[in-house]
Amino acid sequence: MKKILTIALSITLALFAFNSLNAASVGINNDIAGLDIKPTLERPFPPSLIRTKNNHKATLDSFENPETCAGCHPKQYEGWRGSMHSNSWNDPIFQAEFKKGLNETDGKIFKLCAGCHSPIGVLTGTVSWDKKTNEFSVSEKAARGVTCDVCHSISGAIPLDDTITSEHGNGSHIIDTETHIKYGPLKNSNSPYHETQYSELHTKANLCANCHNIIHPVNGAPIERTYDEWRVSPYAQNGIVCQDCHMNSVEVAIQIAKTLKRPETFINKKVRLGGKASTLGTEDRSIVHSHEFVGGNAIISAIMSPKNLRKRQHADIARKRLQNATELTVDLKQRNDGLFELGVDVFNSGAGHNLPTSLTQVRHIWIEATITDGDNNLLFETGKLDNHHDLDEDKTVIFKSWAVDAKGNDTHDPWAINHIVRDTTIPPKGHSKHDFVFNNKNDSEQINVDVKLNYRSATQHMTDALLGDKAPTIPTINMEHFSKAYVQKNGQWVEAEQSYQSLEVDIENN
Ligand code: HEC
Ligand code: HEC
Ligand code: HEC
Ligand code: HEC
Ligand code: HEC
Repeated sequence: MKKILTIALSITLALFAFNSLNAASVGINNDIAGLDIKPTLERPFPPSLIRTKNNHKATLDSFENPETCAGCHPKQYEGWRGSMHSNSWNDPIFQAEFKKGLNETDGKIFKLCAGCHSPIGVLTGTVSWDKKTNEFSVSEKAARGVTCDVCHSISGAIPLDDTITSEHGNGSHIIDTETHIKYGPLKNSNSPYHETQYSELHTKANLCANCHNIIHPVNGAPIERTYDEWRVSPYAQNGIVCQDCHMNSVEVAIQIAKTLKRPETFINKKVRLGGKASTLGTEDRSIVHSHEFVGGNAIISAIMSPKNLRKRQHADIARKRLQNATELTVDLKQRNDGLFELGVDVFNSGAGHNLPTSLTQVRHIWIEATITDGDNNLLFETGKLDNHHDLDEDKTVIFKSWAVDAKGNDTHDPWAINHIVRDTTIPPKGHSKHDFVFNNKNDSEQINVDVKLNYRSATQHMTDALLGDKAPTIPTINMEHFSKAYVQKNGQWVEAEQSYQSLEVDIENN
């Protein structure tokens, strides 16, 4: 009897174990197996949503090299060259992560990722991955990434009903490869070289949305949602679009964020945004757009900066953008129980979307603080990188998101993400306030407070894992720096008068 019971019990246990194992593996397998989507007329390049107008079969002749445009559009070309759009295929971090994904999904994600990172390659079938050698082969044109002709051949967006979640994303645009018409924002343009057509889409955030929203094609998890974040922001309410900030100088973008007004309103004798849209243009246009498309990436844009470009131009602009995206407010007070409280408020004053945005499982912003007393004893510390350039996430206020796969394991790999478990990114014009409590243990008469807000595009750990010996050092970009000494005056803690020494430090830091 006992034996039968044991057998029955072990069968039940085995079944249970099998079932739970099965359930778990079905989860992640479903997310990946489901990527094997058959092509249809509406979706000829699955899992990407990209398609050509009238399902025309594109060839390399459908697209021209940016250098062809440069002759007549030097300003646009100089901005685009060296931008992350020009690096979107050659970006080594992208390629390493892409290869990892191709190996883990048996190639099923190929067109999803390449549909945005090399649209020409996907549409013309001139980009591929060899499973055996784990190498890519790519035509010269396809390797140029998101080129002039990618954006200016976009003739529309696919009907939202044809998308998974009725929103833009996953490359949901229609590219005209039949004609050489250039679609753009000018209503009455005339070019001796190509036909032109006014396109309202090019003046709207929807154009960017097709590539700046990523949704997992099987489980619907929001992987990158820059456009969605913008859509529910005060910027969208005031008619301010991505182009206003990312296709004008940082100075103009700062004004836009401050006033919630569109760039046209700043044009005066001093601020000229206009000029000729082409060296052969016959009319002055009120705005000629910069085409630099700078966000926060100061690492790939530095490594891949074209040789004869002004040194690291895009990377320098990225730093400037980051350093003007937030406002930091710090205040110190002593509580009734004698302990001290340092309040740090981070205000997303300048970004038209969350901070950080996009790959928020990877990009991160954090508070670094050091508090010492008058004798330089350490009273409190947070947010310091350790010897491996890592952060103790449990003890750091960090702005990012955390995701898991279908088995509940942490992941930042887009193909494996099943859902987001936590998100501390700061919405546009939103605040995030944090209190740090410490003890002035020696009853010192002075307290020195040093607070920094830092940004990194990725952890060093992840970069090393992807690129091995060739991995670049990921810089920590200091977005804000607050440094003050507090002293007691009439029972209150107030800011000390600034000494010459601290002024020097200030100058050095600026
Ligand atoms: C809908 C368009 C789209 C799709 C699909 C897409 N990406 Fe991207 N990818 C982007 C955009 C836009 C960025 C830039 C975001 C930023 O820099 O903040 C990006 C950035 C990246 C980066 C960061 C590169 C760096 O230098 O830090 C990696 C890695 C990456 N993508 C990998 C992938 C992989 C792998 C896939 C497929 C599973 C994929 N992407 C699919 C649009 C897309
Ligand atoms: C990521 C998409 C994208 C890429 C890549 C791109 N453009 Fe544009 N371009 C735009 C958008 C969007 C506008 C309109 C902006 C607006 O009016 O708000 C524009 C405007 C223009 C205009 C009209 C004049 C002006 O500057 O506003 C010209 C000409 C132009 N682009 C040429 C080019 C050339 C040449 C390249 C390549 C060197 C290029 N573009 C690359 C999106 C792009
Ligand atoms: C021989 C000169 C020449 C070349 C080469 C050239 N363009 Fe143009 N392009 C022009 C002129 C002139 C205009 C009209 C400018 C105006 O009306 O202000 C124009 C206008 C445009 C516009 C605005 C269309 C609109 O209606 O908004 C876009 C976009 C554009 N060109 C993209 C390109 C791209 C992409 C290339 C390269 C594939 C290219 N051009 C090559 C001369 C040229
Ligand atoms: C065809 C797809 C596509 C379109 C359309 C597109 N982008 Fe991008 N964009 C990308 C990809 C891919 C990257 C990232 C490349 C990488 O990191 O390797 C990128 C990068 C960027 C970056 C740099 C991010 C960083 O980390 O510094 C900015 C800013 C940006 N795009 C803004 C825009 C704006 C504004 C528009 C609309 C006018 C737009 N993009 C339209 C695909 C696109
Ligand atoms: C009010 C100005 C403003 C508007 C509007 C705006 N941005 Fe940005 N964007 C910024 C600033 C400032 C940064 C740098 C801070 C950061 O990285 O988040 C940035 C960063 C980015 C990045 C890089 C994020 C990273 O850290 O890798 C991308 C991609 C981007 N923006 C795309 C867009 C798109 C797409 C839209 C429209 C849907 C848009 N932006 C609208 C100001 C703006």
